[in-house]
Order: sequence, then C-alpha cells, then structure tokens
Amino acid sequence: MLTNHPFLTDIETIRQRARQHIEDGPITEGYSADRETVIKLLNDSLATEIVCTLRYKRHYFMATGIKASVAAAEFQEHADQEQEHADRLAKRIVQLGGEPDFNPEGLLTRSHAQYAEGHDLRDMIKEDLIAERIAIDTYREIVQYIGDKDPTTRRIFEDILAQEEEHADDMAGLLQGLD
Ligand SMILES: [Fe+2]
Ligand SMILES: [Fe+2]
Repeated sequence: MLTNHPFLTDIETIRQRARQHIEDGPITEGYSADRETVIKLLNDSLATEIVCTLRYKRHYFMATGIKASVAAAEFQEHADQEQEHADRLAKRIVQLGGEPDFNPEGLLTRSHAQYAEGHDLRDMIKEDLIAERIAIDTYREIVQYIGDKDPTTRRIFEDILAQEEEHADDMAGLLQGLD
C-alpha cells in the first residue's frame, strides 16, 4: 500500500486486478455495488420509461385531436425524452453485463408509474403529473441506494431525475393554465 495515497488502492494491485476477468469489460473488482440488484433497478426503471413514453404518445395524439396544441407539444417533447431515458438505461444494463427487458408482457407490473389514458385534457395532464411524481420519488430513492458504489449508474439516475422534475413542473404549469 502506498502510504502517501491512503485513499487509493496501490496502483500495482489495480493493474493486477485489471488483468483478471477482462471479459467483464468495464466491471472491475473495485465495483462494490450488488450488480444483480442494480440491473433489476435499471430494468424496472426501463419499464417505467417505456410506459411513460407510451402514455405521453397517446396523450399527444389525443390532445392533437382536440386541438390542444400547447399541451400536445409538451406531450410530444416528453415522449421523446422518456424514450431517451429508456435508451440510456438499456445501454447501462448491457454495460453491466445484464439484458434490457423490453418484453411487453409484464411491462406494467415492472413499471413504477402507471399507464392512465385520461378522459379529457385535464385528466391526461393530471395523470402525467402523478406518473412524474412517482418516477421522481423512486429515482431519488435509487440514487440514495446506489450511493457511491456505482457513480456512473447513479449519475444516469440523477440526470433522469432532474428531467422528471422538469416534466412535473411542466405538467403543473399546464394544469394551472387550464384554470
Ligand atoms: Fe423519464
Ligand atoms: Fe418524465
């Protein structure tokens, strides 16, 4: 151990470990998170993002039909961003040696958020706001659970969490605009 770097594993040990299990790619021995649990959390979140994409898509087309163009534009933008979130999560699952679960069967069971169609515009916005609030709470908890054990996965969740907060704010704004 190098005493002048008490916070670091000495470089010879790191070099030695890097040569073992190279088939694990980016997952080194220093990875201290429970990989199975992290992959499960990522897959549940992937299901959430897919459900949110579908819900916003439905709301986009329905709002377009009733000529609610401001809301429709927001729904469209959010659908695209939820799709990007899904892609980021799937990519990370593969990096961790897992398989992204895109199976439509059981999608709603795996998802944190629900798929609510909404009867009118107010209803749609309200359901989207609720779904965002569910996502915000679960992602915040996941960030706390991961802690400093897997900074890359945590950063992905932090980025997505920040955008879900923006989404919730957008929906709250739309809801107020209807009053
Ligand atoms: Fe999202
Ligand atoms: Fe969102």
